[in-house]
Amino acid sequence: MEIIIQPNADAAASLVVKMVEQTVRQKPNATLGLATGRTMEVVYDKLADKHASEGLDFSGCSTFNLDEYIGLPAEDVNSYRYYMNELLFKQINIDLGNTYLPNGVAEDIDAECEVYEQRIAELGGIDFQLLGIGSTGHIGFNEPLSALRSRTRAKALTPETREQNAPMFDNDLNVVPKRAITMGVGTILDSYRCVLLATGKAKASIVAQATEGPVTSMISASALQLHPRCTIVVDEDAATELINTEYYRWIFANEPEWQEFQ
Ligand code: F6R
Repeated sequence: MEIIIQPNADAAASLVVKMVEQTVRQKPNATLGLATGRTMEVVYDKLADKHASEGLDFSGCSTFNLDEYIGLPAEDVNSYRYYMNELLFKQINIDLGNTYLPNGVAEDIDAECEVYEQRIAELGGIDFQLLGIGSTGHIGFNEPLSALRSRTRAKALTPETREQNAPMFDNDLNVVPKRAITMGVGTILDSYRCVLLATGKAKASIVAQATEGPVTSMISASALQLHPRCTIVVDEDAATELINTEYYRWIFANEPEWQEFQ
């Protein structure tokens, strides 16, 4: 794992966008794992810009999103399918037929989860998995005590996560879904590469616990310490509770892999 500290949220998102770009240019038929949430909005905005101004070509790519609320159909403005279509897929030249999200209104949720895993496997696995982190330490919707080897399944959301997401539902907690389908921690760990983006002071404590603390199912993001190729990108605000920052800064400034990202 490496931790890269950028001066601000915009620079952190730009760095993540460069990593996605590198992946897509090296492998035009890459399979991308995608996240939603407020942190990702600027990333998708910048990817749309890259497509419009530099012709970054997504026509050969496939995507799998981490999660979807149970009970929200694709046309619901709060569904993650709606978010992805509006913020990214309609803005780039990806074939919508190659974009996958779990179906939150599937009749048989368990079967839906199984098919999702099979589809990922059929496409050869996820080349690049983009992640955010919730204040409970979740990645996807893997709330505390998610098994470190869990696969795509239904998961109950914590009251904290529901409260955090309530602003998108006009702050009406009653209508915030209680369950979601999410890729498992094990599914995420199977990706070839993963990049977690966290920005803002509110994420500082959980980022430090997940990266410099012990691996524990209480903080799903700590499982990323087991991933062979994982990068955590943070801004200065989200880095404030990290201990070993001098070393992380030295690595980013000196290691050959990062020279093209300076
Ligand atoms: C959503 C997802 C979540 C979010 C996390 C952070 O697809 O995977 O894990 O990344 O809840 O959300 P924001 O960015 O809104 O703080």
